[in-house]
Amino acid sequence: MDNNFVSINEIEKQSKFTSQIRALIQGKGYRAFVITLGCQQNEADSEKIASMLKKMGYEITLDEREAHILIVNTCAIREHAEKRALSIIGRFKHYKAKNPDIIIGVCGCMSAQEHRINQLKHSYHYVDFTLGTGALHRLPELIFNSMNGAKRHFDIDEIKPKIAEGIEPLRQSDYKAWVSIMYGCDNFCTYCIVPYVRGRERSRKMEDILSEIKDLAGRGYKDITLLGQNVNSYGKDLKGTPTIADLLDEIAKIDGDFMIHLMTSHPKDASKQMIRALKENPHCANHFHLPLQSGSDEVLNRMNRRYTTERYLEIINGLRENSDDITLTTDIIVGFPGESEKDFEKTLDIIKKVRYDSIFTFIFSPRKGTPAYQMEDQIPEEIKHQRYERLCEVQNEISKEINEGYIGRTIRVLVDGKSKNNENVYTSRTEGNKIVHFECDKDYTGKFINVKITRTDTFALYGEII
Ligand code: SAH
Ligand code: SF4
Ligand code: F3S
Repeated sequence: MDNNFVSINEIEKQSKFTSQIRALIQGKGYRAFVITLGCQQNEADSEKIASMLKKMGYEITLDEREAHILIVNTCAIREHAEKRALSIIGRFKHYKAKNPDIIIGVCGCMSAQEHRINQLKHSYHYVDFTLGTGALHRLPELIFNSMNGAKRHFDIDEIKPKIAEGIEPLRQSDYKAWVSIMYGCDNFCTYCIVPYVRGRERSRKMEDILSEIKDLAGRGYKDITLLGQNVNSYGKDLKGTPTIADLLDEIAKIDGDFMIHLMTSHPKDASKQMIRALKENPHCANHFHLPLQSGSDEVLNRMNRRYTTERYLEIINGLRENSDDITLTTDIIVGFPGESEKDFEKTLDIIKKVRYDSIFTFIFSPRKGTPAYQMEDQIPEEIKHQRYERLCEVQNEISKEINEGYIGRTIRVLVDGKSKNNENVYTSRTEGNKIVHFECDKDYTGKFINVKITRTDTFALYGEII
């Protein structure tokens, strides 16, 4: 089991590289730029990358033009994400042409695929290294080697990932935090690249997670998201096999005014114990994101999701028994291979039945190396787009109606800061992540306040501070 963790020797080795880099660049005013694509897991990884760079002596900059090291943290979930990553990497070419000492590294999910590693090695000569998602702790070594004229580094074996404890993230926010509770995924949904690029499920030890949350709560963090591709299967690989319910029960005992979100859950592992633990935990936000993907049992079966719509609806009922005004959100894929008009209508039906607050709709994007990439009956782009539009239309109407029900209610929100478009308007979020705008002449960013809702539309609520 402990094979899942990076050894102390390895961590010490990396910290020696960190000190050596620090000595090399001391007093030179070197800067590092990190750009992040993809999901919260990548955001969390980038906070660790930034913290490692800072320890090496780099100052973190938001301006790529002044950077001495450029890191692209990539995503591979859909074709669009990969195209964006390649175009960013492409743009970095001229920095290296101007200054050959600049170091360019590519990490994240895109660069954890063999064909992409080869592409970066052979067609992007100015990229110094790729770094697998489970080998982030080796960043100091790779940078040190690049600085000292070593060969460019492209290693497919890094895809066998491990957990490195002790890398304190450089958190971007002082009131919202990501806490990874597990890494990787064992589910192999037939459309999804994640299990191939993030490796097998590995859980962090409960004591490490709890001490991180206690520390955050003590420092006044208000919104803590427990991250994992499938947080419901937390602990299966740990000694004593603790469950997500056990973890939530321990988090419940931590003092502080903070809320807990879970990101993401898989319906096949959503147990009664977890629903009970959510209900009893005063910190758990009144929100649940439960990806459905499709409303057709046949499509779910071909997606290898391993639940039926009937089982899915039971879980939704369980969550609604916990709280009848829980905010529910989901992910839907339209245009999965072989999705018939009937299948798609079943998705529309379930969307109308559940009445989610909002949904994330994705057009199926075939990912090389996944079973769905080779499935017959790929759906024409035009039909995929039409279904996407039809689904959004149905959902937008539901979101609008649900939001209207908030008019007159006073709700607690966490303030995110000034709205970009309007001087005196602030943006905030409810426990369920609904956006709430309100006018105020005092800055409550990072604090909970109460807002009375006076007006709503499809995507946001508007109100007055109480
Ligand atoms: N582990 C999470 C999902 C992470 S990916 C879960 O199982 O809930 C986030 C979402 O991207 C998925 O829920 C799915 O809806 C979507 N997605 C994944 N692969 C995709 C693909 N090949 N094409 C389109 N959407 C995809
Ligand atoms: Fe992908 Fe499925 Fe794993 Fe989520 S559970 S990351 S959709 S394989
Ligand atoms: Fe993208 Fe990797 Fe997240 S593929 S969605 S960054 S796990």
